[in-house]
Amino acid sequence: MADKIKVLLTEEEVTRRIGEVAAEISRDYAGRHVHLLCVLKGGVFFTCELAKRLDLSVSLDFMSVSSYGSGTQSSGAVRIIKDLDEPLEGKDVIIVEDIIDSGRTLSYLIEILKKRNPKSIELCTLLDKPERRVKKEVKVKYTCFTIPDEFVVGYGLDYDQKYRNLPYIGVVEV
Ligand code: IMP
Ligand code: MG
Repeated sequence: MADKIKVLLTEEEVTRRIGEVAAEISRDYAGRHVHLLCVLKGGVFFTCELAKRLDLSVSLDFMSVSSYGSGTQSSGAVRIIKDLDEPLEGKDVIIVEDIIDSGRTLSYLIEILKKRNPKSIELCTLLDKPERRVKKEVKVKYTCFTIPDEFVVGYGLDYDQKYRNLPYIGVVEV
């Protein structure tokens, strides 16, 4: 049977907010080149929508990571499934993520990427669930939406690899 999905954020709300965050980033990085790192797969829809709205010189790179650990609990150790194509040396980097939950994945990823000597490195996320944060040191510079502790899908986020293509953010009703 098909899952029932309750809309949490409509396509219009998401699109409008991405525009606002893109404008903020464009102001903060005015006159500079920004290197966006998309964390696959969940970050891909957000990265595209954000990149289109940046009034800046932009380049893109992609990486895919998998966190070790059982079930829904990420352990924090991250295995790189697909590494970046280009070096980060001297670049103004923004990591683009779908959601920050415990923060374990990002905390580990940032440590790895800092060793590659970017000029700067910041974090931009579509969604943040601060109630779930374990790694308090993960500082998110740009957040589109802060949401309660609910499991959400759509706009890149999956439930068992499904629903990434939904143009809105929803909660799967069980
Ligand atoms: P963290 O290491 O606990 O922060 O793990 C974050 C990752 O867990 C995200 O990049 C997502 O892939 C996944 N995740 C966390 N919460 C959700 C959710 O509500 N829906 C879908 N995926 C989620
Ligand atoms: Mg993710």
